[in-house]
Amino acid sequence: MNKGTFYITTPIYYPSDNLHIGHAYTTVAADTIARYKRMTGYETWFLTGTDEHGQKIQRTAKSKGMEPKEFVDGIVTGIKRLWKTMEVSYNDFIRTTEERHKKVVQDIFVKLYEQGDIYKSEYEGLYCTPCETFWTERQAEGNLCPDCGRPVELVKEESYFFKMSKYADRLLAHIEENPEFIRPVSRRNEMINFIKQGLEDLCVSRTTFDWGIKVPFDPRHVIYVWIDALTNYYSALAGGQPDDSLVKKFWPADVHLMAKDIVRFHSIIWPIILMAAGLELPRCIVAHGWLLLEGGKMSKSKGNVIDPLVLVDKYGVDSVRYYLLRELPFGADGYYSEDALVQRINTDLANDLGNLVSRSVAVVEKYFNGEVKPPAEYEEVDQDLIKTAGEALREYEQMMEKYELSNALGSVWRLVNRANKYIDETAPWILAKDDSMSARLGTVLYSLMEAIRFITVMVSPFMPQLPPRIWQQIGLAGFENARTWDSLKEWGGYPAGSRVKRGPALFPRIETGNAAGEEQNAGREIKEAVEKNNAAGAPAGDADLISIEEFARVDLRVAEIIRAEKVENTDKLLKLEVALGAGRRTLVAGIANHYSPEDLVGRKIIVVANLKPVKLRGILSEGMILAASEGESLGIITVDPVKNVPSGARVK
Ligand code: MSP
Repeated sequence: MNKGTFYITTPIYYPSDNLHIGHAYTTVAADTIARYKRMTGYETWFLTGTDEHGQKIQRTAKSKGMEPKEFVDGIVTGIKRLWKTMEVSYNDFIRTTEERHKKVVQDIFVKLYEQGDIYKSEYEGLYCTPCETFWTERQAEGNLCPDCGRPVELVKEESYFFKMSKYADRLLAHIEENPEFIRPVSRRNEMINFIKQGLEDLCVSRTTFDWGIKVPFDPRHVIYVWIDALTNYYSALAGGQPDDSLVKKFWPADVHLMAKDIVRFHSIIWPIILMAAGLELPRCIVAHGWLLLEGGKMSKSKGNVIDPLVLVDKYGVDSVRYYLLRELPFGADGYYSEDALVQRINTDLANDLGNLVSRSVAVVEKYFNGEVKPPAEYEEVDQDLIKTAGEALREYEQMMEKYELSNALGSVWRLVNRANKYIDETAPWILAKDDSMSARLGTVLYSLMEAIRFITVMVSPFMPQLPPRIWQQIGLAGFENARTWDSLKEWGGYPAGSRVKRGPALFPRIETGNAAGEEQNAGREIKEAVEKNNAAGAPAGDADLISIEEFARVDLRVAEIIRAEKVENTDKLLKLEVALGAGRRTLVAGIANHYSPEDLVGRKIIVVANLKPVKLRGILSEGMILAASEGESLGIITVDPVKNVPSGARVK
């Protein structure tokens, strides 16, 4: 079923060095969206590539005694290999040194010049070579680049300028009329403020180096690298084609995906170029957060990079992709740590998903010789599983449509956890002891296979290597129709009578030493010491002190804020949806005067989890968040983001 077309892009990366896990994050996110769109019936075009011109590349190549093209060719080969290893299913890979691209860039430049939107003048400014950006004196405080912190150089040159200012009002109106144009809303607001401060004309050519696309009518100049780079999204469809069918089919782009560092180029310069060239604007610019290391942002120039190939080699593609896409809440920054990666593998993948499949397959083998029987009557517990599957699917779809990949995985895991609980509740091993319960056992095992089928289809865009391994085990290798998105419309698509077959563990646990055991021992020692102290009698005057048991009655847990919104008709109240381990809770908190909802999503806070629920303004609040306040100031208590403590963890 073809629902239409969908065109998604990643930034084109600088091939000045090998790419790192931050670049891989953007690319696998785009790949996951592209796979999801294909799965749900869209004819999808997924573009990535490399941005090969500019002074920095020229200098780097020179320092290695190479020609720029020879140098970038080597890096690009490595990048393509990386994407292949990471199962990145791009339809096209564009390089800005290709003829098809150069011609389109030159044509657009000439058109803008001829219509008077590009003019010649003189430029004097502070230039940061690594960032390829000019800064004003105020911006480059202390002669340092405000982005990367390195020294800027004073450059004076004859240049062509692009009349950005002419289009500022039109762009502002477009952004204001199209709330979805820049996402998330925090970036949109930033861009609106930026434009309102006034746009200056942009210097769009250079004469100080020559590794770039020449201005056709003035070849001493090369075209500014950002005009060259941004145009790739169009030239990949329009350039070097026998006809305009790709443009007709896929232009304008549905999503330009990137991190927040380059949103300004994409949501200001690029739309203005397109307006001036008479081309349609992209539908949506989506900016995710940064993957940080404890020392700050990962960057090739800082030399603190994590190589995705090393991780994939050690943990497998699916696990690395899962970790990246689960860890960073949409739009927010997140910290990379190998410990957190291992924890995700051991908890979400090995314990939750891996065990669900292996336990389910094992019981079908044990009690029904591997054959999945048709379901009989569904009981209440089955209905609850079926309901959760339907809800998880709907929620997953909503999240995917908003590109909230981490939340989409959260929805799938609701079903994974429900299914694991279902095994415990229905206890197939007890049903198996009673011959009269055979039909009941059949229903339970069928329901498990069906839940796993739902889960597998939903995770397939995230973990491309996993589905065939699960299909093999649950007996769906030969049933293509039962593996499609459309087949999830209704519960019951699993073809009864199929045979399961146990295979190797889907996600073998990674050994992590006995840190957990040591921690438990330490906990026990403290408890024993306190007990001894209590037995000896509390010191006089300490009537207000509580024992550790009394403290332990308060169930404090780490919770991750998934959604936040203002409670209607109130000033102070926010409604929060939080993940608490496998479950979700709604909390109402009086913090609206201190936090805006978008600032909260993705944060890990502490909640009192065993507080009696109360209704506030008609909303059932199932817990309380911890905050410290004095006078007018209030701050919520958050968990150290560096440590990646999972939601649901006990605070003690
Ligand atoms: N060549 C320009 C983009 C031109 S697009 C028309 C460029 N290249 S880059 O190699 O520096 O890539 C920047 C992009 O890489 C970011 O916007 C983001 O998508 C990705 N990331 C690089 N480091 C990252 C992190 N540490 N975290 C998240 N994303 C990261 O800018």
